[in-house]
Amino acid sequence: MVDRCVCVDVTFAALKRLHREEALDFQGLVDRTGCCTGCAGCEPYIRLTLKTGRTCFPVLTATEAAAAMRPPGRRPRR
Ligand code: FES
Repeated sequence: MVDRCVCVDVTFAALKRLHREEALDFQGLVDRTGCCTGCAGCEPYIRLTLKTGRTCFPVLTATEAAAAMRPPGRRPRR
């Protein structure tokens, strides 16, 4: 299971708390904690945390990760 940005060792639960309590958006979380500034492999998980409130995930497939990175309401091109 994936529950944190391992590059800076910050959990998705801690990021969710910052999002909720300080109204930080994705970029605000990056600026505050340094998450996503290493390998960036955590970005789709963090975006899913912000969208869904979940803080622990199975490893995403490439398709699931790409979907997590899309802005809300956008569908993939066919
Ligand atoms: S896991 Fe978050 S930057 Fe590498």
